Amino acid sequence: MSYSCDYLVIGSGVAGLAFALEASEHGDVILVTKRALDESNTQYAQGGVASVLAEDDTFESHIKDTLVAGAGLCHEMAVDVCVREGPGRIRWLLDLGARFSGKASAHHGPDEGIDLDLGREGGHSARRVAHAADMTGREIVRALLTALRERPNVRLLDNHAAIDLIMASKYGGPETCVGAYVLDASGEHVLRLLARSTVLATGGAGKVYLYTSNPDIATGDGVAMAYRAGAEIANMEFYQFHPTCLYHPRAKRFLISEALRGEGATLSLADGDKFMPRHHPRADLAPRDIVARSIDFEMKRTGSEFVLLDISHRPASFVRERFPGIHAECLKWGLDITTQPIPVVPAAHYMCGGITTDLYGRTTIPGLWAIGEVGCTGLHGANRLASNSLLEGLVLGHRAALKSRELIDELRGGPPPAVPEWEVGDAVPSDEKVIVTQNWDELRRFMWNYVGIVRSSSRLRRAAHRIALLQEEIQEYYWRFLLTRDLLELRNIATTAELIVSSAASRAESRGVHFTLDHLNPDPRFARDTVVKRGVPPHLRNS
Ligand code: FAD
Ligand code: SIN
Repeated sequence: MSYSCDYLVIGSGVAGLAFALEASEHGDVILVTKRALDESNTQYAQGGVASVLAEDDTFESHIKDTLVAGAGLCHEMAVDVCVREGPGRIRWLLDLGARFSGKASAHHGPDEGIDLDLGREGGHSARRVAHAADMTGREIVRALLTALRERPNVRLLDNHAAIDLIMASKYGGPETCVGAYVLDASGEHVLRLLARSTVLATGGAGKVYLYTSNPDIATGDGVAMAYRAGAEIANMEFYQFHPTCLYHPRAKRFLISEALRGEGATLSLADGDKFMPRHHPRADLAPRDIVARSIDFEMKRTGSEFVLLDISHRPASFVRERFPGIHAECLKWGLDITTQPIPVVPAAHYMCGGITTDLYGRTTIPGLWAIGEVGCTGLHGANRLASNSLLEGLVLGHRAALKSRELIDELRGGPPPAVPEWEVGDAVPSDEKVIVTQNWDELRRFMWNYVGIVRSSSRLRRAAHRIALLQEEIQEYYWRFLLTRDLLELRNIATTAELIVSSAASRAESRGVHFTLDHLNPDPRFARDTVVKRGVPPHLRNS
């Protein structure tokens, strides 16, 4: 089966939904997403959206905080654009009906100030995080999806997984992306979706690691598809670990927002030792890479399996009202955060690198866009500042929609490329699904142990060796057996892992979230982006 549209959007997080809503004003949109429409990293975002909204805050201060966190690798233009366009995007969300926690009334006309309650997070020198209690992402998704469902020219296809991008060059055309092959909800048919603009909004890749704050959708599909298609990828070694996820033997890693520390929560060891002031002058509100590494250091030093995060000194009514989601989730595990400290550990959280784009989300392949966590505009550099990613998703979703609207008329009317239907070849149904689960578990475990918060050259070499072996097996399996969603995700996490490891191995220094025991400090010669392309190994390039 085959469909054509103006815009094919892959992913239903903040970036994909924002793009689809704005692009639909100018053309027809097909949006595909791998699971339910509201299943994404965005859905679980807690802290909020960083933006300069308080009278005593300034753009310069937000820019400076972002640059400091990014450890010398942020692209200044990207920082400038995202920070300055932030308040307009928040206003857009409020006008769409998003209900953020406020000090005063819920509605804000264009000339009124935005009177929101603003949270504080690590690395920020002011209160500037707009939020909906501790369930900000869910509220953003609700507002965007409600608006999108009213658009008659938008087709929303849930449980549809993109497999690969379609390049016209494979069929005698130019080096242009003209759509994607997509596995449908039944898992039995592959659709050929052709588009004038194809937008990757597939989010991050936390599932590359054994422990992650991310839901199961985060398997690096966008980066892997773009890499296979020949796009440039940058800064993949910078995988951010969130310092505080709930530690419970039976719970999946559940995030405990940095906003708790913004409201006075402190970290300690089991004996009450508050260790953060020893590690950084900003103590519990130090940038996230420093807090994660300090926890890792203290856990290894003392042999403990977790550290404690305590907000129980604040009034119980405040804690319940400000953090209703976290309070309820912890209660499910028998923990009352109004009276008890929370056992926490770090976990893989955010992919700072991604597909190289300009400030409109254009990749190095014409016709292909990448926005949100899957893209690399240079905003985050070597370490993302807390709550800057929802901001980037909103700003880039908007900018990409405006720019692609400008270009779509040029693209309309050209002859449709002669792209064949998906070919199954001699593939047969798999008889040994255990191969997929075995490879998946193995990969995630060695990525955690060898390529996690603390790395070394020999650990990276070991990981590279194992990835090569796994990839051989996965490739063979991929061609012999009929495609399943598990298999395509496994192939993508292996590619993403390969890019993280090879990029990390090429950076002989510690910077931002990349920390290696063999080179403990930053080296000015490495103050450049790592770029990689199929057939071209990672190398450094000035930003
Ligand atoms: P996502 O929201 O991850 O959406 C990706 C979409 O692509 C999903 O719908 C997925 O199903 C789909 N998809 C993936 N692969 C395919 C495929 N092959 N085919 C079809 N569809 C596909 N950031 C902040 O700024 N503030 C916060 O407070 C905050 N809190 C967070 C809390 C948690 C628990 C987590 C995990 C992240 C948090 N982040 C936060 C980070 C932030 O949520 C994400 O970076 C951001 O939401 C990414 O948005 P996105 O639109 O790029 O991707
Ligand atoms: C959090 O609420 O701690 C997450 C914020 C973020 O990842 O930006």
